[in-house]
Amino acid sequence: MNKLDPQLATKPTDQLVVEDLHLQYGDNPILKGVSMTLNPGEVVALLGASGSGKTTLLRSVAGLEQPSRGKISIGQAVLYDSEAGVDMAVEKRNLGLVFQSYALWPHRSVFDNVAYSLRLRGIAVSEIGQRVDQALTNLGLGALAKRLPHQLSGGQQQRVAIARALVYNPPVVLMDEPLSNLDAKLREEARAWLRELIVRLGLSALVVTHDQTEAMAMSDKILLLNFGKIEQQGTPEDMYNQPQTQFTAEFMGSNNHLPGKVTQVVDGRALLEGEGWQLWGAVRGALKIGDAATGIIRLERTRIADGDGDNRLRTEVVTGMFLGDRKEQLFKLGALRLRCYGHLPAGSRASFIELPPDDLWIFANEAG
Ligand SMILES: Nc1ncnc2c1ncn2[C@@H]1O[C@H](COP(=O)(O)OP(=O)(O)OP(=O)(O)O)[C@@H](O)[C@H]1O
Ligand SMILES: [Mg+2]
Repeated sequence: MNKLDPQLATKPTDQLVVEDLHLQYGDNPILKGVSMTLNPGEVVALLGASGSGKTTLLRSVAGLEQPSRGKISIGQAVLYDSEAGVDMAVEKRNLGLVFQSYALWPHRSVFDNVAYSLRLRGIAVSEIGQRVDQALTNLGLGALAKRLPHQLSGGQQQRVAIARALVYNPPVVLMDEPLSNLDAKLREEARAWLRELIVRLGLSALVVTHDQTEAMAMSDKILLLNFGKIEQQGTPEDMYNQPQTQFTAEFMGSNNHLPGKVTQVVDGRALLEGEGWQLWGAVRGALKIGDAATGIIRLERTRIADGDGDNRLRTEVVTGMFLGDRKEQLFKLGALRLRCYGHLPAGSRASFIELPPDDLWIFANEAG
């Protein structure tokens, strides 16, 4: 049996709650009041640009960093509480950790790498054998138990790191860019099996990534960090289709950008004007006449049109790129560059492009 204090041991029905977490390195604030929840059985992707604080947040939950304020709990167990002076030791937090670098022990076999955390917990040898075999089988590593890490491919090493984190059935698994060392093709396959594995084992997982497609593919909920603050959180569909801020809109897809000025606002629509063009779009956030603003539209919502019409622009064809499953076209109009998917008649020099007003989101530029 487990050596852990049973009162501290968490159950898979427990929810991870982070409340108003602050952390700074010296005078430099890194986490600026992060609050989030991870429900049992849920996969939450922690998304954000490099340096936004993803690893810092994950390590704070794991107990590897020292926050300055806030609270972290899993069910009844308080892991950290600045007011109550609680800061539970890493090993007592009972979390599964997968680091970006894998951090496998080079001189231990695959089996021993995975068995280590069970031995630490004083589990009987026979049970260790059984559980390690099960974890290796789950991850398709059954035949590799005796190998050393350097005898494995990158993808196999990464699976060993995941097996090691999952072997003692932690209620919450924390993964920092678990797929980042894989090449693009392998990575796309890995995100599907990793999600399937987490769901099949009934785990809750907080998974860090800086890749929006990976975040959407893997998670039930996305948390977008922007310089130590949560910009927006929601389902992948919400984040993609209903961004509340320009930052979220830009982060969650491939977009065209149209910088301009607002000249009319009517019933949730605004007219955005730039040099040689004007377009109606959907007002996002607060917007008034005279504001400098940016129109954002997803590439897949921008269409090649067969003639003039509402919310269409006449553009010059710059170039076309063959992408295998589709073609991407680049157009220009003055200083504007616009991209969209689709085909043009051979030799086209000019084309109309349609930007449907509901899909063209207009955000006021932030002052300053
Ligand atoms: N030990 C440290 N001392 C001082 N500053 C640090 C330390 N660790 C991280 N930082 C700073 O904290 C900020 C957040 O770092 P963090 O590693 O959490 O970012 P990240 O979102 O994980 O980025 P990436 O996608 O590049 O991994 C960065 O500005 C980083 O320079
Ligand atoms: Mg990081």
